[in-house]
Parts: sequence; structure tokens; C-alpha cells
Amino acid sequence: SLPKATKIVHLAPLRSKRVRVNGWVHRLRSQKDIIFIVLRDGTGYLQCVLSGLVARTYEALTLTLESTVQLTGTLQEVPEGKTAPGGHELIVDYWRVLGAAPGADDAFTNRLNEKSDPSILADLRHLVLRGETASSVLKLRAALLAAFRETLTAHSLTEVTPPCMVQTQVEGGATLFKFDYYGQPAFLTQSSQLYLETCLPALGDVFCVQESFRAENSHTRRHLSEYTHLEAELAFINFDDLMTHIEAIICETVDRLLANPTSAAYIKQLNPSFKAPARPFLRLSYVDAIKWLNDHNIMHEAEDAEGNVIKEQGLTVMVPHKVGDDIAEAAERQMTDIIGTPVFLYGFPAELKAFYMKKMRVDGEGHVFTESCDLLMPGVGEIVGGSMRIDDLDELFAGYKREGIDPTPYYWYTDQRKYGTCAHGGYGLGVERLLAWLANRYTVRECSLYPRWPGRATP
Ligand code: 4AD
Ligand code: MG
Repeated sequence: SLPKATKIVHLAPLRSKRVRVNGWVHRLRSQKDIIFIVLRDGTGYLQCVLSGLVARTYEALTLTLESTVQLTGTLQEVPEGKTAPGGHELIVDYWRVLGAAPGADDAFTNRLNEKSDPSILADLRHLVLRGETASSVLKLRAALLAAFRETLTAHSLTEVTPPCMVQTQVEGGATLFKFDYYGQPAFLTQSSQLYLETCLPALGDVFCVQESFRAENSHTRRHLSEYTHLEAELAFINFDDLMTHIEAIICETVDRLLANPTSAAYIKQLNPSFKAPARPFLRLSYVDAIKWLNDHNIMHEAEDAEGNVIKEQGLTVMVPHKVGDDIAEAAERQMTDIIGTPVFLYGFPAELKAFYMKKMRVDGEGHVFTESCDLLMPGVGEIVGGSMRIDDLDELFAGYKREGIDPTPYYWYTDQRKYGTCAHGGYGLGVERLLAWLANRYTVRECSLYPRWPGRATP
């Protein structure tokens, strides 16, 4: 009788047995009377050999890449001197095509070779995913999310699933996606932070892995319109505890991945020179970062009183940084690349940050600094944004006033300060950005299943 189909990843114990596998023709090489197939089933790759009568059928002669096939035969250890994935190959004695693909002549798949045009590759993302690199990035992404959940659970945080459809903003009105919700205005969430804060008295420390949406017109390597946001919130901590916790979660998660042979192999494949970062991470205050940038001649775009970039003869005028400036993406990237290790930037001026951030100190010139931090990684820049939250009700109302936000719809958030407030803080981590760092990808677009950016919501 014919054996039941086995996934490639489970073949090892079945050496020298008769097995059956289903999959897609990943690679195909025909010689005289012999066909070599590398079969792919999503769990691994298997080298298969068709020879003799089975290689001489019409189906064998017209077999194409990406066709779905079912192969049955004997699993043999590869002879010494030959290599194959898993160290074995399938000597096929019976097989059939389950779904033929058009093959190399097909205009559609042919365009996959036009590696130079990213918009074609974006249109064909559903086929690009079948490639060895894209599928490994997504396998590593899955392992990363699982490892994060394990680490956060080990730190006694409880996972919750906040809503995506909301009627309040978190990170400023400019990047909200609005939509009609049964006749009322609503938004796609920018961050689940406010909901996590309300969970503290009910569930203790919490985290979520939820999509966040940003209507940012940013065509950069690290901006998506929809991204996976890992957020956590912790009660009864101080600012130093917050940074220590972020560092621990990232390092322990990376350690878990490196300790697991499967995920370690994906990291090795995608980022051969990756090394786990050393702890503690460098901590640099915002004010010291401004000094550092000026010491290294990394300049800031000059702005007029309205905040518009000043140009002369078509060129942007560059000036030294001053306290109060937002550190632009390019400057931030240069800084992390020169430093070469993870860096916590902390203590940003209140005017650059959201309404909810706790104040740290005021300087002689009247700048108010906040208990906020960004974690920057070499090659990517900011991957985490976090802060302590204002826990006093009146101070929070003052924050809304400063930002010109009507606090009424936030009653459920402000209530948290009314019914037993506590010192608390949390953070949000961009999963695609962390993955870009871990897997050494040029852009976060490679780290999302079907990435969305301005103008792109297909496939
Ligand atoms: O710095 P952000 O805007 O912080 C917040 O949303 C806080 N409410 C989080 C919190 O404290 N719970 O976003 C957090 C992180 C960033 O550091 C970045 O990694 C990622 O989210 N991120 C993006 N990733 C991809 N595309 C975008 N457009 C992103 N915007 C933010
Ligand atoms: Mg941020």
C-alpha cells in the first residue's frame, strides 16, 4: 500500500523507508533520462531524483518550475561527497502532477527576474514569497513573535488584544487614518498604549501584538502605513526600570532565537555576521546627543519660523543642531552607524513628544524634558519608543490642553488616574524594524507579509 504523505521536516527518521511527499518544484534540472527536483513544501527542501521509466513520461518531459507534485519513493542517505538538504534524497518510483504551472515562458513569472524594478516585485509579492530569502525572513518573523511572547510571559506580562477601530488618537492627529463607523468618525489605531494602560489595575503588567496604522507620507526604508506593533505597559516602575526592562526583553528574546537551532539557522542564512548585542545598552541623553551630532558635524535642516525647510538655489540649508530640534532620520541613522551598538536616547523635549509623557526636568532656558526613550539599532535607527506616563489627573489635562486635544472622548483613559493611579510606563516596538535589524534587511518592506506604504495596498 502507498504511504501517507509526510512533511519534509519530518523525514529524517524515515531514512531507507518508502515515503510520499507533496510540494512545489523549487528547482529543476533535467539530464539525459534523469530529472533532479528540489521540492519545497514550506517546512523544508528535499532533493528528489526521477530516473528510468518515471522520467520518460510526457508529464516528466513537460514538468515546470512551481508546479505542485506528489512524489513517492525511497528516502536514501546521500552518498559521501554529495550534499543535499537534510543529508538525504528521494529516489522516486511513482509520482504525479497535482497542479501544473506555466513555467519559464510565462510572462507573469518571468517578470520576477526583473530584480531591478521594485514596483514589479511588489505587484508579484505573492510569488516573491516563495523565494528562499523572503520565506526565511517570514519564518524568522514567526519565530521572533513566538520568542517575544515567551519572554514577556516569563516576565509575568499578560497578553491582551486591544481594538484596531478607535475614536481617540495617541501619536498626533496628522497620521490618523479616518473612516466612517456607522455614521460616526473613527480611526485605525496608531498605538494600543492607552488601552494597555487601562489594563494595569485589572490584569497587572500587559502586552499586545497588534497592527498599528500611520498615515505618514514617508517613503523611507523604515516606514509602513500598517505595521505590527509590540507594546507593553508596566505598573509601579521608574524610568530606569523601564529601560532595563526593554533591554532585557530584547536580549532574552534574541538569546531564545539563537538557542533554537531552527531560528538560529535562519539568522545565520540572512545575517551571517550577527552577534547578540552586549548589555547594558549605551544610554545617551537627548541633550548629549545634540552635542554628539554637532561634534561629529552631522547637521540639521534649517527651518523658518513656520517649520518649513529653508532652501537656497534648490539646496537645503544645513545648520548645527540645537536643543529643541527633532533628530531627523538621516542624522539618527548616521549616529547609530558610527556608534555601532544599540543606543537608548532618552529625555526628549516635551514639545517633540506626545501629550501623555511624564516630565523629567526643566532647563535654564525653559525647555521641558520628558521621561521618554527611543532605542536605536545600527542600520535601522529607532526600533522602540517608550516613556513613563503622566499619572496625575490635573497634569494629564494640562497635557491635553497643550496639544489642543479635547479630553472628553478620553474619559476611560483619564479615569485611570481617578480610580487609583500608579506610577507606570511602557513602550512600543516596531516588529518589522527589529526584524530588519536581526535579519539584516535593507527595508522593513521585506519584513512584512504584504507591506503597505503610501500608494500601495495590493496584493
Ligand atoms: O514611537 P512610536 O510612535 O510610539 C508609540 O506609538 C507609543 N505610543 C508606543 C508606546 O509607548 N506604547 O512608535 C513605536 C515604534 C517605533 O519605535 C517604531 O519602531 C514603530 O513603532 N513605528 C513604525 N514602524 C513602521 N512604520 C511606521 N510608520 C512606524 N511608526 C512607528
Ligand atoms: Mg517614536
